[in-house]
Amino acid sequence: MIAKLLQGSLDTITGTRNSEKEVRKVKIIKSALLSIAAVCLAVSFAFAGSGDAAKGKALFNDPNLGGATGKKSCGTCHPDGKGLEKIAGKEEFNLAGKTQKSLEEAINMCVENAIKGKALDPKSDQMKDLVAYIKSLKEPLKR
Ligand code: HEC
Repeated sequence: MIAKLLQGSLDTITGTRNSEKEVRKVKIIKSALLSIAAVCLAVSFAFAGSGDAAKGKALFNDPNLGGATGKKSCGTCHPDGKGLEKIAGKEEFNLAGKTQKSLEEAINMCVENAIKGKALDPKSDQMKDLVAYIKSLKEPLKR
């Protein structure tokens, strides 16, 4: 009788242990799946946010960028992006006596002042493509 009771409670104890283990396993699997999902999401955002360097190059050499009507394009003063190779990681720019806190702002500074166009929407495809082109300059083989 006592032995049976003991056995019973032992079973209960090991039973609980097992189900606790199961719960833990499920938790681990759940968090693993969640992290995989998070990584996928981050990757897809990264790709969605990156522009097309080839299109950016065309815009860079387009004198009508930002609706400008002059003869100058970005490429007139920065032929083949010359001088812009090292700015990919730059966080602060100082153009025209002002401070720009991003590459997008610096680009717009030149769009407005150098080629007399209208500032591009920093979130537009054109801006993303230009940024992608300028960032691609740091890899000399791509040119
Ligand atoms: C009339 C000549 C001229 C034109 C056209 C021009 N820029 Fe510039 N740009 C400059 C000068 C001058 C500077 C400041 C000197 C420097 O840092 O190279 C500069 C600086 C920059 C910088 C910051 C460089 C740094 O090292 O901080 C970026 C980015 C840039 N230009 C992008 C562009 C883009 C994009 C276009 C086309 C919309 C463009 N520029 C058109 C003359 C020009």
